Amino acid sequence: MTAIQLIGSTDDFRTLVERALKSGAPAEIAMIDAGGFDPEIVRAISAACPDLVAIGPDLSTSDSLKLIEEIAKIAPQVPTILIGYPTADLWPQAVRAGARDIVTPVAKAVVLRESFERALEAGRKLRVHVPDYAATPAPGGAAVAEAGRVIAIVSPKGGSGKTTIAANLAATVARERPGDVVLADLDVQFGDVGHAYRLDPEYSLLNAVAPGVSPTVLKGFLTPHPSKVLALTAPERPEDADDIDAAASTASVRQLAGLFPVIIVDTGAGLDDHTLSVLEAATDVILVTATDVPSVRAVVKEYDILERLGLLKDRRKHLVLNRADARVGLSVSDIEQTIGLKASMTIPSTKAIPTALNLGEPLVIGDERGPVARSFTEFARELGVIDQPANSMSRPWRKR
Ligand SMILES: Nc1ncnc2c1ncn2[C@@H]1O[C@H](COP(=O)(O)OP(=O)(O)OP(=O)(O)O)[C@@H](O)[C@H]1O
Ligand SMILES: [Mg+2]
Repeated sequence: MTAIQLIGSTDDFRTLVERALKSGAPAEIAMIDAGGFDPEIVRAISAACPDLVAIGPDLSTSDSLKLIEEIAKIAPQVPTILIGYPTADLWPQAVRAGARDIVTPVAKAVVLRESFERALEAGRKLRVHVPDYAATPAPGGAAVAEAGRVIAIVSPKGGSGKTTIAANLAATVARERPGDVVLADLDVQFGDVGHAYRLDPEYSLLNAVAPGVSPTVLKGFLTPHPSKVLALTAPERPEDADDIDAAASTASVRQLAGLFPVIIVDTGAGLDDHTLSVLEAATDVILVTATDVPSVRAVVKEYDILERLGLLKDRRKHLVLNRADARVGLSVSDIEQTIGLKASMTIPSTKAIPTALNLGEPLVIGDERGPVARSFTEFARELGVIDQPANSMSRPWRKR
C-alpha cells in the first residue's frame, strides 16, 4: 500500500487526492496538521518514511519550503510536492528546497494523479532497496539494549590490508547471517569499501550523519552487496569528509549497532579522529600489520597509544598478519612476542586478493573453498560472530 502524507492540508484537498488516486494502486492517505514549520514534523516523516509527502495549501510558502528542505536533508528518499500556486519566483525556490513538483490545490484530478505518480516513481528510484533479509530492530527498543558487535579494523600503516580484511570478513559473516552485517567505511576521506565491493551508492555516511535520521531512513542509506553485506560507504567526494565530524560518524555506527548484530568498521591509516572516536564504541579491535620490521614497530606504538588512551580496555583484541609469507626477517612468533598478542589469522600474499577486489567480489566469495576463505571462516568463528560447525545450537554472537 502506498503511504501518502499530507501536511498542512485541507479536507477539500484530501478529497481531491482521494478522488485522483481512486483508480490507481491502493494508497493510504494520512494528514498532519501544521500551523507552521515544526522540526517535530520532520522527525515524524523521517521515522515513518512515507512514499510521498504533499505540503500545503494551508501553510505559508516559506514554512512549506522550510519543511521540504529539512525533509530533503534527513529523509532524501521521501519525495515532496508543494501544494500551492506556482509562480516564476516560486519554481526555483521549490526546486532548490528539494520539491519534486508544485501542484495547485484546485488541480484537475488527472494533473494531480500524474504529478503524484511521477514523484512516487522518483522516490522508488531513490530508495535504495533494503532487502527483506535486512535485520529489523527488536520491538520495544530491545535491540539497543542488546547492541551489536562493533568490530573496528585498524592499522598504523596505509595499504596494510584493512579494507581487504573488512570486505572479506563482512562477506564471510554475511554468508551465514545474510543481512545481519553492516560494513561501515570510516576511512572518511579516501574510503574505498564502495570500490572493493564495486558499488554505485546512492547514499553515504554524509547522509547518515545528518541529525535526526531515523532507523528506517538510516537503513535506506545502506547499499546492499550481492554477498548480503550492507555497506555504509564513505562520501564519494573527499572534500565532503570536512562536513563529517568524528562524533557524528561514531554516532551513526552506534545507531547501526542498535539495528544490526554485527558492524564491521573499516578505518583510515593511523589514528585519525574518526578512528579514535569509533574505538570508544568498539567491542573488538582488529590490528592489522604486515610482517616487516617498520610495520611491526608501528603497530607496537599504536597498541601502546591505544592502551594509554584506555581504548583497548574491555575490548577484545585481535591481531591479523597480512602478507605473512613475505620473507622479511620476522617470524610469526617474533611478531606475536613483540606486540604481545597472538595472531588470530595470517593471510599470505596472493594475486587473487587484488584480482577479486577489481571484480568487486571479495575472494572469500569467489573462492569459497580456498585457504583464504577458510582462514576467514575460522577467524569469524573465533570472533564469535558465526556459529561453530557441527550443528552447534549455541548462538555465541548473542553474548557480549
Ligand atoms: N594478502 C595480500 N596479497 C596481495 N595483495 C594484497 C593483500 N592484502 C592486500 N592486498 C592489496 O594491497 C592493496 C592495499 O590493500 P587494502 O586497500 O586492503 O589496504 P588498506 O589498509 O585498506 O589501505 P588504506 O590504508 O590505503 O585504506 C590492495 O590493492 C589490495 O588488493
Ligand atoms: Mg582501506
